[in-house]
Amino acid sequence: MKFLDIFNVPLYIENIDYSEFDTDIDNSIYKLYEDEDFDRLCDGISLLDFSPKMNESFLGYVEKHKLKKFEKKVLESVEKYVKLVCCDYGEITMRNSWINILKSQNTAVVRKNEYKRIEELWPYHTHSKYNDISGVYYHKSIDDKSGNIIFLSPLNLVVEKAFPYGKDYKNFETVLPEKGKLVLFPSWLSHRVEPNFSDEDRISLSFDITIK
Ligand SMILES: [Fe+2]
Repeated sequence: MKFLDIFNVPLYIENIDYSEFDTDIDNSIYKLYEDEDFDRLCDGISLLDFSPKMNESFLGYVEKHKLKKFEKKVLESVEKYVKLVCCDYGEITMRNSWINILKSQNTAVVRKNEYKRIEELWPYHTHSKYNDISGVYYHKSIDDKSGNIIFLSPLNLVVEKAFPYGKDYKNFETVLPEKGKLVLFPSWLSHRVEPNFSDEDRISLSFDITIK
């Protein structure tokens, strides 16, 4: 008898040591808050990757704010991830990065329980165009109500609960945000983020990686 579990999706999760770059990220965020356009850019709701509210001025965040130590740490983990899943790789580059400030439940949208609207604003999406690996690093996250990231199975029929849907073959996987947590995944993997129902803002940095 032979049993093959084929077509798995590798997800990399690591709690990284943030002591070297934590203050650098804090300082970059203070600069954002000082910007008088900040609230207007956030539209009083949040900045979330690939949402229609995303503003171009928040792209290239790591480069713009010279977060070199953060970038180095992330790229080291990307290298470990690539080595774990395949053996051959070339130059690893952070192609783009942006900040996500997911405002707390006190924002008007969540207070009104317009959950459906939030799902419409931030639906499942991929980062596949021109990228290989995408990831998120949680800088500030309070608890499991802060907005989990949800990955959708690439097996379309399993999503529709066809066999072998069940505890070992889920239609989606949830990852809880937690300070210092780095999550890496193939850029083509569909995902979305839940609203932030905690009492404080949740702040994360997202990025896309290419391998040549
Ligand atoms: Fe995303």
